[in-house]
Amino acid sequence: MPRNPRHIGSLLLSLCLWVACATTPVTTDAAGLKALKDGRQRTEFVAESPKSMIVTAHPLATQAGLAILQQGGNAVDAAIAASLVISVVRPQSTGIGGGGFLLYFDQTTKQTQALDFRERAPAAATVHMFVDKTGKPKDSSYQGTPVPQASLNGHLAVGTPGLIDGLLETHRRWGSRPLPELMAPAIKIAREGFPIYPELARSIKNRAAILGIFPSSKKIFFRPNGEPKSAGDQLVQEDLARTLTLVSQKGRAGFYEGVVAKQIVAEMQRGKGLITLQDLKNYRTKVQTPVRGTYRGYEVVSMPPPSSGGVHLIQMLNMLENYDLSKEQVHSPTYTHILAEVMRRAYADRAEYLGDPAFVRVPVNGLTNKKYANSLIQSISPEQATPSSAVKPGNPAFYESASTTHISVVDPKGNAVATTQTINYTFGSGVVAEGTGVVLNDEMDDFAIQPGVPNVFGLVGSKANAVAANKTMLSSMTPTLIFNQQHQLDMILGSPGGSKIITAVLQTVVNHIDFKLHPLEAVHTTRIHHQWSPDILYMEEPAATLTKALTDRGYKIENSDGIGDVQAIFRDGGQWIGVADARSTGTPAGQKP
Ligand code: DON
Repeated sequence: MPRNPRHIGSLLLSLCLWVACATTPVTTDAAGLKALKDGRQRTEFVAESPKSMIVTAHPLATQAGLAILQQGGNAVDAAIAASLVISVVRPQSTGIGGGGFLLYFDQTTKQTQALDFRERAPAAATVHMFVDKTGKPKDSSYQGTPVPQASLNGHLAVGTPGLIDGLLETHRRWGSRPLPELMAPAIKIAREGFPIYPELARSIKNRAAILGIFPSSKKIFFRPNGEPKSAGDQLVQEDLARTLTLVSQKGRAGFYEGVVAKQIVAEMQRGKGLITLQDLKNYRTKVQTPVRGTYRGYEVVSMPPPSSGGVHLIQMLNMLENYDLSKEQVHSPTYTHILAEVMRRAYADRAEYLGDPAFVRVPVNGLTNKKYANSLIQSISPEQATPSSAVKPGNPAFYESASTTHISVVDPKGNAVATTQTINYTFGSGVVAEGTGVVLNDEMDDFAIQPGVPNVFGLVGSKANAVAANKTMLSSMTPTLIFNQQHQLDMILGSPGGSKIITAVLQTVVNHIDFKLHPLEAVHTTRIHHQWSPDILYMEEPAATLTKALTDRGYKIENSDGIGDVQAIFRDGGQWIGVADARSTGTPAGQKP
């Protein structure tokens, strides 16, 4: 997004102040960050404004949200417009065939509310639907063509989509502009198309083997000659434009009933999927009570179950609060060791206790209790890695993926939205419901298809997260709001990254609160991740000395690219600083004063 030089000058000055070097102009390298390999400048990822701010994972979505704010729309209006555009321009990440979570903070009442528009298992779903008699993950087929891994690819992987219901419910409660106005930018881009950018081209290529099985998907994401579309090709989604137009005219009924619902069900029947007209008709967004904690005097408000995100973010912060990190540095061996051990313990609990609270009792209070955190850290050795206590059977392969997306917005009144949305893995199930342009999710893979069998993110689970009819699959999505000691909104953030979402959010919060990094550095600096099982410490570009120090402590280390893709807004005195992660295609934009 173009920015004027005065703006960049003031950014560099503020970077300068943050890193406490007032005399020489500061480059982002001097702020502790390497230059980006692809030639983009770090300064492209930060914006500031005293008025309002939006950060999303694509410039067209950021622009759509900013335009709504400029026309007098509120944070909710901007988030809805941006979410719909993201659905069109990042079909690999999210879309109206998926679902999500949203936190809304109302500056007048000081209340935060949480909406859960996550996909739900269809009524015909059953506990063993994804495993054979020996407990091995099942494959499926589409009209004679084999489709590997039924929970991840193809029609059975699809949960009843919630995104449209969630956005409409958000709009009904807190929106201020007419829905058609908020939907117009997405409809226009879907109809007219946009040039495919390198990351989208890579995602199409990586998922081509699955997308290519389904003619309805191939029609959109492949060239007429049968090759996957590549960078520079135009992506026009006329069917999706028509579906969005129906929603814009008819609201909920435009998607959950009528022609679109019938097309989704017809698609399900072609591929032996489970979703029925009744499942669609019954879909309802749920209001959840946000989970709360504190960290060094800040208040943390985040997404409760059926996301595991908020619970484990708070649990990990509670554990970290016992350590004096003021003497540590962001990549010091001691801090990295403590962080990894804290992550290991939280994810062990995740595997055991977390599931849909409508079906299982999740011990949220216990997991987020400070005394419990104190008891957990007793087993952390200051010197040595603790081996993960039980390594469960299954495939330890751990995948990266370009899916899921997060949007953060604050409006001139101080109302804020943090929303994370997804179709799960890259291009979800790979299936487009013929005639609708809707890429259907593969959220069923977020269930534990069998205790101990890892999902695509290597996560294992217990009965608490077993498949059941109408149940919501466990999530890691962590839309989060942080309030400072003066009870002012201080941070709005969230991330994609599957199992790595919670740890990416955690590190951004600690980088800000403990290490007092400039927001750009708090988001951009390298991250680590540990999830108990597999017993591996994932690290982005670890320095050789750090790798050696941690290997000596007993860690098995693997290099990992792209841990999360955080979109965050920070308070900085009277300004908002928006930072998009450089790990993907995001941009921030603020309203001019
Ligand atoms: O809800 C969840 O936790 C996952 N379905 C999110 C998937 C995701 O972040 C994929 N991204 N890289």
